[in-house]
Amino acid sequence: MPRTAGRPEQQPHAPHRIALIGFMGSGKTTVGRLVASRLGYRFLDLDTLIVENARKSIREIFNEDGEEVFRQIETEALYSLREMHRLVIATGGGAPIRQENQEFFENLASTFYLEVSYNEFFKRTGQDHARPLLDRTEKQLKGLYKSRLPVYRSLGQRILTDSRKPEDIAAEILKILVVP
Ligand code: S3P
Repeated sequence: MPRTAGRPEQQPHAPHRIALIGFMGSGKTTVGRLVASRLGYRFLDLDTLIVENARKSIREIFNEDGEEVFRQIETEALYSLREMHRLVIATGGGAPIRQENQEFFENLASTFYLEVSYNEFFKRTGQDHARPLLDRTEKQLKGLYKSRLPVYRSLGQRILTDSRKPEDIAAEILKILVVP
């Protein structure tokens, strides 16, 4: 595997695929668009791809087919990108958790983890009805947040996002990629 994959280190050329991971509300889509535009790469939001392919919303997939079917579709959508070049991918918050998906983040993309604190996540997402996971109680959400942190941290280079502008976060990622 070329050294452009996995946790990004200082590297002279931008890698073929850049993946952004992190909890809901961490800004993956906004930051991903900025990074892609700066690199002249294509931007893809994995949830949008899933919705287009399934021709129904994430909530409809969860309600009608169940979370396990959603996770299977998510894995297929992720690996459908494995050959694509010059791409920035914003993934759904649960994508890195499924073990089958972890090879993608380790070996097939340079992965950045956008870290948002629990409180900031709660403020940013509010009562967003499009996200089925937000139907859970606060205690369950806190548990989910805590359980995911170590996985995110092990798969991606950690970038803090609280109280920061998307432009600054994108600039930090570009600096790590050594894009002048
Ligand atoms: C999910 C996050 C969502 C979406 C789905 C499940 C999760 O994406 O994939 O609702 O498990 O955290 P965002 O992280 O873009 O909100």
